[in-house]
Amino acid sequence: MQTELSVIVLAAGKGTRMKSALPKVLQPLAGRPLLVHSLASVAALKPAKTVLVVGHGAEQVKAAFAAHADLTWVLQSPQNGTGHAAAVGLAPITDDGITLLVTGDTPLIRSETLAALVELVNEKTFALLTCNVADVTGYGRIVRDASGAVIKIVEHKDALADNDTATLAINEMNTGIMAAPTAWLRAALPRLTPHNVQGELYLTDVIAMASADGLTVATAHPMHESEIAGVNDKAQLAALEREVQRAEANQLLHAGVTLADPARIDVRGTLICGADVFIDVGCVFIGTVTLCNNVSIGANCVLKDATIGNHTVVHPMSHLEGCTVGEGAQIGPFARLRPGAQLGDEVHIGNFVEVKNSTLGNGAKANHLAYLGDATVGERVNYGAGSITANYDGANKHRTVIEDDVHIGSNCVLIAPVTIGKGGTIGGGSAITKDTPPGALSVARGKQVNISNWKRPAKKIS
Ligand code: UD1
Ligand code: MG
Repeated sequence: MQTELSVIVLAAGKGTRMKSALPKVLQPLAGRPLLVHSLASVAALKPAKTVLVVGHGAEQVKAAFAAHADLTWVLQSPQNGTGHAAAVGLAPITDDGITLLVTGDTPLIRSETLAALVELVNEKTFALLTCNVADVTGYGRIVRDASGAVIKIVEHKDALADNDTATLAINEMNTGIMAAPTAWLRAALPRLTPHNVQGELYLTDVIAMASADGLTVATAHPMHESEIAGVNDKAQLAALEREVQRAEANQLLHAGVTLADPARIDVRGTLICGADVFIDVGCVFIGTVTLCNNVSIGANCVLKDATIGNHTVVHPMSHLEGCTVGEGAQIGPFARLRPGAQLGDEVHIGNFVEVKNSTLGNGAKANHLAYLGDATVGERVNYGAGSITANYDGANKHRTVIEDDVHIGSNCVLIAPVTIGKGGTIGGGSAITKDTPPGALSVARGKQVNISNWKRPAKKIS
């Protein structure tokens, strides 16, 4: 049936079982809201219209998807069940065509599975995605007649209330995903009644109507069971998170990345790896992270929106965000690179060194306990232990410029705005407030005084 496709995504439910103030469809899975995952599969079908039915936390959900201009938003209030949500969602859709209904809480559904389901629909055929699963608890059961034709769906709670053991024993579950001719759906949905234990309008009741109306209920099945796993509570969310992470790890392994333990890596976004990358245990990758060839990431590092050049080693316990690192650099252990840190080739950043909004030229080194903020650091600069740029005057930020080949001693304070001239040396413990000339030794500290034969105070004896 070659007609226009519209999609309704049901996302108005409270998600009571999550026990959270955050709407269910915004709960993060692999670092992205649940809804992002199913919407990506829906978008691959290139539907004429995608209608999002929102209700609980509608404003929060809309705000989270403000960038998605292609979505049509419909408010369901109050939330009287999935059948009511479908009816509300149908309002902006025209009659000629097919409507695909997707629940917002089945994040791993693949676009190929949705496409195969839609293919089954014609004027006389309703299509339902079902799956045989070992643990059917909580799901609607697919009831077939003696000939194998689907005649209705019975919700778990209703079968329980009726003590209907035969229905409870059915292992074919409703995935909540279905497709139908739009005109038929529009005529059917107003006929739903809330005569069930939840007192709601069940979308699932349209199956019995389709069967009674003489439509064939065709079924399709997902390739993997995880595709249709509904996320209703934190335990299901956590189980799916592991599943997604396992799949991410497998992809990395197949791409030739060495993972110390595929069960101990978390990718919450996109991780792009070159050849011969090594990742030790406990690392978290957030946003878009690129690791070029031969990069090694030590244990327990967190990298967010970062690009790391060839042959660079990030030692354990380092936290890198919004930064780029050149080739052959050494970072950490216990280093912190904050947004705007741009490090050249062969830069060394050691333990307890923080770099923010600063560029460091090739070969620059800050090996211990230091802060570089709003600084432009030249090539081969050596920045001593305990030194900092005092970049903030309480109101404004100022820049520090450290030209090529400068040596900054230990425990220096460079009070910005200030420029340290090329090849200069700053004596340890200096507080530098004025620009220094190239090639000079600059010292700004109290002169040492020695008092001979100094008598320390003694304790009074009473
Ligand atoms: C539903 C199905 C069940 C199926 C299961 C698959 C019904 C009655 N039951 O049960 O047969 O096995 O999904 O995961 O359809 N929603 C609204 N408005 C509402 C109520 C719900 O938009 O008034 C949305 C929810 O946000 C959610 C989806 O519909 O995304 C499903 O609702 P949920 O409460 O999770 O239904 P289940 O009990 O999982
Ligand atoms: Mg559900």
